[in-house]
Amino acid sequence: MAEPVSGRPEVSFGSDKSAKIFVAGHRGLVGSAIVRKLQSLGFTNLILKTHHELDLTRQADVEKFFALEKPQFVILAAAKVGGIHANNTYPADFIAINLQIQTNVIDSAYKSGVKKLLFLGSSCIYPKFAPQPIPEEALLTGPLEPTNEWYAVAKIAGIKMCQAYRLQFNWDAISGMPTNLYGPNDNFHPENSHVLPALMRRFHEAKVNNAKEVVVWGTGSPLREFLHVDDLADAVIFLMENYSGLGHMNVGSGKEVTIKELAELVKEVVGFEGALVWDTSKPDGTPRKLMDSSKLAGLGWVPKVSLKDGLIDTYKWYLESVKQ
Ligand SMILES: NC(=O)c1ccc[n+]([C@@H]2O[C@H](COP(=O)([O-])OP(=O)(O)OC[C@H]3O[C@@H](n4cnc5c(N)ncnc54)[C@H](OP(=O)(O)O)[C@@H]3O)[C@@H](O)[C@H]2O)c1
Repeated sequence: MAEPVSGRPEVSFGSDKSAKIFVAGHRGLVGSAIVRKLQSLGFTNLILKTHHELDLTRQADVEKFFALEKPQFVILAAAKVGGIHANNTYPADFIAINLQIQTNVIDSAYKSGVKKLLFLGSSCIYPKFAPQPIPEEALLTGPLEPTNEWYAVAKIAGIKMCQAYRLQFNWDAISGMPTNLYGPNDNFHPENSHVLPALMRRFHEAKVNNAKEVVVWGTGSPLREFLHVDDLADAVIFLMENYSGLGHMNVGSGKEVTIKELAELVKEVVGFEGALVWDTSKPDGTPRKLMDSSKLAGLGWVPKVSLKDGLIDTYKWYLESVKQ
């Protein structure tokens, strides 16, 4: 393993707005929110590369990029992301691409002298039957949900890599595990989007087509947690500024809603006036999924965007995107 490059003046995150920050995955839901947040805070030196300009699975290209650009901070929001169907169909892609991206970025960041890196994973790292709300300590205490274990194993390896580099090299790599996210730049694809954008799209299309009803699967009783991606971006900056520990950190809103409450709120925000019908012959999924984010709260971070305001903001973005 090469020694990291040294000789650069020490700077803590946020103290110098001209510090070089590489946001990997800046066109995605999460990466774009982080870029908006950094820009709104006055950061002026962001390095942004599209997938086409820099394929993060290509080790030699990533090493060259880091050696040339020498960023001071890295936020790793690039990943191959998808729903159950995509995970089931492309398990090899989900494990291999994610392992490649994170291994290349974390290792090259360390070797090129990056001062601090934040790696993003998700709540799917936890065992299928983890206690609710799920504390960070539940990691690796039981079998994973089989439908996304390929992705989850890669993400767990990312957390462990950050820990290993901290232990062996005393390098400041941290991990954040967000709950279900939503907001501008979300994926509204009819077949492989998450529940919130899928509901928004369906109500929107029903409104435009003057449909009488929208049928939603299940009873609507499962409880879920949602966090607006602008809140996540705020938490990411907060962690970069205030956290340098070995353990990964859950990032959630701490607020649960039933799928029924969510669907009714989306219906209201979209302005669909027809009926909402529940097809109770269809399965409900896990009854409850909530992260325990008390560690982050204990550091002083609180989410700011209410679900209603977040949905209004997301629908505004969706309307703009369907216009184009
Ligand atoms: N969405 C959620 O609800 C959620 C919840 C919890 C955690 N997270 C985590 O947040 C992170 C980002 O997720 P997201 O929802 O923002 O995903 P996303 O919208 O799909 O964005 C992922 C980004 O990564 C880029 N990327 C993928 N493969 C790449 C490669 N080989 N080289 C360079 N860039 C590549 C993509 O570019 P292209 O589109 O051009 O390929 C895209 O810009 C992930 O680690 C995910 O686990 C997301």
